[in-house]
Amino acid sequence: MSNVISFNDVSLRFGGVQALKNVSFEIEENSLFAIIGPNGAGKTSILNCINGIYKPTSGSINIFDQDSKDLHPDNIANLGVSRTFQNIELFENMTALDNILIGAHRHVDYGPVRSLLFSKKVRQEEEKARKISEDVIDFLEIEEYRYSYILSLPYGIQKRIELARALAMQPKVLLLDEPAAGMNNEETEDIARFILDVHEELGITVVLIDHDMNMVMDIATDVVVMDFGEKLFQGDPQEAAKNQKVIDAYLGVG
Ligand SMILES: Nc1ncnc2c1ncn2[C@@H]1O[C@H](COP(=O)(O)OP(=O)(O)OP(=O)(O)O)[C@@H](O)[C@H]1O
Ligand SMILES: [Mg+2]
Repeated sequence: MSNVISFNDVSLRFGGVQALKNVSFEIEENSLFAIIGPNGAGKTSILNCINGIYKPTSGSINIFDQDSKDLHPDNIANLGVSRTFQNIELFENMTALDNILIGAHRHVDYGPVRSLLFSKKVRQEEEKARKISEDVIDFLEIEEYRYSYILSLPYGIQKRIELARALAMQPKVLLLDEPAAGMNNEETEDIARFILDVHEELGITVVLIDHDMNMVMDIATDVVVMDFGEKLFQGDPQEAAKNQKVIDAYLGVG
């Protein structure tokens, strides 16, 4: 098994706030790698470091064996890393399909001049983007919302459409920041099943942040537990649930 991402002694500071403190771990190809921990523990900061929005204050991050310090967020996306956000970031006044097409367009190859000419090649690329989008729509079972405007859709469906847009980028690694946040039990079970399908059927490496220990224990292959910017535990999800330091962090002790 090879590593797709490694954190090597990564620290991240914002003025007086130490968001990450000497964090090291490796994410293996084809794992479903969960990151859990209390509020402010540094979980989102890890995802922002992976996709290049934040650069470590010290330490280094490798993505597909490349040092990320030289990589712009666009370069990292082009290496095959896509994500969803803790707060949904969709175009609210556009339809579900149009939002998903934006993801798929990352894969099609045409420059501004060629699109002006509207050549045969552009039409073919457009068809390819539509095909990718329709496949994702089938996969996530959102056919009925295709032409709905984002604003008109229930929160749980909006979250699924954001997942669809990330999948339409045909990533090798998918970063999910609290995909089940704010969902009811049924919606949480649905999204957990889709995340498992993405991992098992599409073979995508998934990095999943969640607060919900139960969901993580159900679906993750590996877990890192963060607390106050530090890695408290790494290993098997079932072991995490039994670990005293983890239990204390969750109870707000220690
Ligand atoms: N851009 C920023 N500027 C200043 N401080 C930041 C920034 N991003 C994160 N932080 C701080 O870094 C720490 C870790 O934040 P982070 O968002 O990574 O936590 P989290 O584990 O995702 O929390 P939550 O569960 O609430 O989403 C917090 O103290 C936060 O306020
Ligand atoms: Mg967060």
